[in-house]
Amino acid sequence: MAKEILTVENIDKSYNGKVVLKNINFTVYENDFFFILGPSGCGKTTLLRIIAGFVEPDRGRVILNKKDITKIPPNKRNIGFVFQNYALWPHMKVIENIAYGLRVKNYTEEFIKKKVNEIIKITRLEGLENLYPSQISGGQQQRVALARALVVNPQILLLDEPLSNLDAKLRDELRREIKRIHKETGITMVYVTHDQKEAMTLGTTIGVMKDKEIVQIGSPYEIYTNPIDIFVASFIGEINTLKGEIVKKEQDIFKIETEEGIFFVKTKKQINSENVYISFRPESAINEEKVNVIKGRLHDYEFYGDIVKINIITQKGNLFKIGIYTKDFNKYKKGENIVFSVSEDRIMVFEQ
Ligand SMILES: Nc1ncnc2c1ncn2[C@@H]1O[C@H](COP(=O)(O)OP(=O)(O)OP(=O)(O)O)[C@@H](O)[C@H]1O
Ligand SMILES: [Mg+2]
Repeated sequence: MAKEILTVENIDKSYNGKVVLKNINFTVYENDFFFILGPSGCGKTTLLRIIAGFVEPDRGRVILNKKDITKIPPNKRNIGFVFQNYALWPHMKVIENIAYGLRVKNYTEEFIKKKVNEIIKITRLEGLENLYPSQISGGQQQRVALARALVVNPQILLLDEPLSNLDAKLRDELRREIKRIHKETGITMVYVTHDQKEAMTLGTTIGVMKDKEIVQIGSPYEIYTNPIDIFVASFIGEINTLKGEIVKKEQDIFKIETEEGIFFVKTKKQINSENVYISFRPESAINEEKVNVIKGRLHDYEFYGDIVKINIITQKGNLFKIGIYTKDFNKYKKGENIVFSVSEDRIMVFEQ
């Protein structure tokens, strides 16, 4: 069993009577790359600031390495923090920015030099040591912020949307760097973002937040393939959805009537209502006439290079997005009739 590093227990927080966090609970284990994923304003930064100690919760506890740190000031918590904006000291050179956390702890000059050099290598900042923050790029500044947080050997590193101020290319590059640093150092990380791609590609575990609450915790695979509700399903990727009514259930096969006909869905999920939504992801549709067939016309498409997402419009006017590989795409023309199907175990059911 992996070692527990951080536990957040029953956290509530309000500002001026307005609830911002409601009963937040989760545990982060050693070497985890734990993501908190949720839309803007759902309370992610507030939660991270509570863990770091900059904000006090109204209720609940923060436990680090089995010790209750809820009342301990931030500088005594041994937690590293990387903010959305780089927040470097502009009057200090890169090397001094990185060394700062060790200087205030009165380590010997020799130790500081050794440790700073080590971190400069890990974060690939060689050659920039004597420049000021204003003389380096945004991506490099964020590397310095990472280095500064890592140099003091924190128990855990918190990152609040560290890539959001960077352009797309730098973001991709630094995303890979953070993944490498996580792997090389083995440090436990909690990373906050509203970008599902970041969470899916980096995370070992994702906690999905919706409006002040965590609604699901699981691996990227679990969350993508078995989302708890329509919100999670659509936040973590694309889905097609239809309203339906369960007309029969036999073992784990549901027979569901919809505007587009009867669908058979195979699931072990407990469903307590007759009125449901059925959903499937674009890549779950196959261009064959098997079970769960949908017929329509090719309405339009989005070309992504590796795949093409095509929109199909049915006679009833429902629009479905399906994803196909580019190499198969030249078979189709706009306006043409198209038939596809979705296998029973690739359809998700949610209560309405
Ligand atoms: N110091 C504060 N005083 C009053 N309200 C606050 C304070 N800090 C945050 N809030 C409110 O709490 C809610 C959650 O804010 P928070 O910054 O935690 O969201 P977030 O999920 O990080 O959003 P974003 O993705 O935009 O960064 C917002 O409605 C915000 O206005
Ligand atoms: Mg935020």
